[in-house]
Amino acid sequence: MPEIREEELNSLRSQADIAEVVGHYLPLVKKGKALSAVCPFHDDHDPSLNINTDRQIYKCFVCGAGGNVFTFVRDYEKISFREAVIKVADMVGFKLSAELSIETQSVDPAIQRLYSCLKDGVQFTHYNLNTINASDAKSYLKNRGINDAIIDKFELGYNPDNDELTKFLKAKGHSTEDLVKSNLTRINEFGEKDVFAGRITFPIHDPQGRPVGFSARALQKDLAKYVNTAETPIYSKGRLLYNYHRAKTACRQAGETLLVEGVTDVLAFDKAGVYNVLATLGTACTKDQIRLIRQISEKVVLCYDGDTAGQSATYKIGTGLLEAGFKLEVISNDTGLDPDEICQKHGAETLAAFSRKRVSWLDFLIEYRLKSVDLNNYSQKKEFVRVMMNEIAKVNDRFDREMLVQRLSTLTKLTAEQMGLLAPRTTTTPSESQLRKSPVLAPRLSKLEWAEKEILGQMLTGRLAALQFRDELGFLPDRLNNALAMTILDYYRNHSEILLADFINTLGDGALVSLVTEISNNEIYYKEYNQRALRDALTHCKASMLDHQIDQLKTEAKKTDDLVKRQSYAKQLEDLRNEKLRLKEQKKED
Ligand code: GTP
Ligand code: MN
Repeated sequence: MPEIREEELNSLRSQADIAEVVGHYLPLVKKGKALSAVCPFHDDHDPSLNINTDRQIYKCFVCGAGGNVFTFVRDYEKISFREAVIKVADMVGFKLSAELSIETQSVDPAIQRLYSCLKDGVQFTHYNLNTINASDAKSYLKNRGINDAIIDKFELGYNPDNDELTKFLKAKGHSTEDLVKSNLTRINEFGEKDVFAGRITFPIHDPQGRPVGFSARALQKDLAKYVNTAETPIYSKGRLLYNYHRAKTACRQAGETLLVEGVTDVLAFDKAGVYNVLATLGTACTKDQIRLIRQISEKVVLCYDGDTAGQSATYKIGTGLLEAGFKLEVISNDTGLDPDEICQKHGAETLAAFSRKRVSWLDFLIEYRLKSVDLNNYSQKKEFVRVMMNEIAKVNDRFDREMLVQRLSTLTKLTAEQMGLLAPRTTTTPSESQLRKSPVLAPRLSKLEWAEKEILGQMLTGRLAALQFRDELGFLPDRLNNALAMTILDYYRNHSEILLADFINTLGDGALVSLVTEISNNEIYYKEYNQRALRDALTHCKASMLDHQIDQLKTEAKKTDDLVKRQSYAKQLEDLRNEKLRLKEQKKED
């Protein structure tokens, strides 16, 4: 089997975001700027696994597990490093060199055939939309303002109404069984029937961009408006978001994701030049869907329909997203129209402007709750204040909190003090888990341990520090620390800098990976080359090595009665003591 080339590994690594990869397996929790997760490598109850997106590594505060995207997938899935590399490549859509990716073809052939049915199905329906067969469908789309560019980009199609899709796919060699399994065909008393017969088809893709199902709209009013693919081995409604594979780059770039209800809303926003848009295809958003969004942005802008169903979806989905740690905004929609209708009635520019008309989550919440509360009713008013004070307490920014309390006060004609009686009681004593996670590492370390870590920290950050270490000290007292120092020096022989997440790949030894992630994840070690601090640390190491040698010599000297030997020990001791003095003086000069 071929070796994985270092450049290829690093190139893949740079495209696979650590938060995205960990987030693929575990819900991430956001605290301030820090991302964490419940550690899967020990019996964890609070999130102890710290995800460092700057350095692209993870580190568990409690069990010490740490590493990069590859070690995470390897250890989480309990597979080989090589399999982990292939998995990561698959996750981010990275094309590995041919020899390596052979193994990715190992997807179950029965499943592979379903993907193939869908692929051919999308092609056939898309082709059909431009035939005479589909003139009604085509003019329907035109009337709705869906032009050819949109039709092509989103591969819209038409499923003719005489079961032509089934016939075509069977002629292409697909089996009836596979067509039924992929929910393109159903068998009833009339025979093999197209599931989406007579409908306009909107292909739905999985996050990797493979078509896996359809949302299909009726042309006439008297039929069910939409028929969506039922659950199949490759299509699971709760694990997909419409337009995810197209929008993910735009979402990452914008730093936010617009979440809408329907396919046509996505199309309308596309016309308006807003591309960071996903649809839940209805008014629910599952945990799996939330996990998908987390991989592409930390902020969600909710843009559901202006009707009651849309507003209660906003409340329900927003609450779920908030609990998962997302930043939220809501596009306030009092038009009673959905985004697609706004685009049709008022044009794409109006929709683009509409997408910027946001309110905070709490503003939405106040308005939303007020709709179902009678403020003249004593107990309803009290409950309303209690709920809102509870929500406000979760807001981090003090000024925002004050403003919200003021607003609530105006609304309810209660004073801030009165409302405070209904606020949740705050505890000021830190919880046990908070204590455990506070950076207790620094004070507990001896000065020598600190100095060694400081040296390693700086060596990891830059070549100059490594060279200074080599010239002024050359080795470290602790065996493991020394092994790391030597590995770093060696690495700088053919690399000009150390990218931590890549460097980790060259460390076979798990103990070294753990040490590297500990050092680089700890704020107390210098993040840049600081000659002065490095010299202090080097001097400290030197001094304690001298102390150690002096102690050893003293013990040896005590053991012997041989006069000559004792004299020799005495001489050596004097030399060592002199060297120590020199060090001390040097330090004073510095
Ligand atoms: P248009 O009326 O074509 O503009 O669609 P819309 O996007 O405005 O649809 P609506 O807001 O009514 O519904 C949003 C989403 O809910 C759709 O994209 C569908 O996925 C789903 N949905 C709507 N109607 C039906 C239905 O009759 N059956 C099913 N299964 N889903 C539906
Ligand atoms: Mn609509």
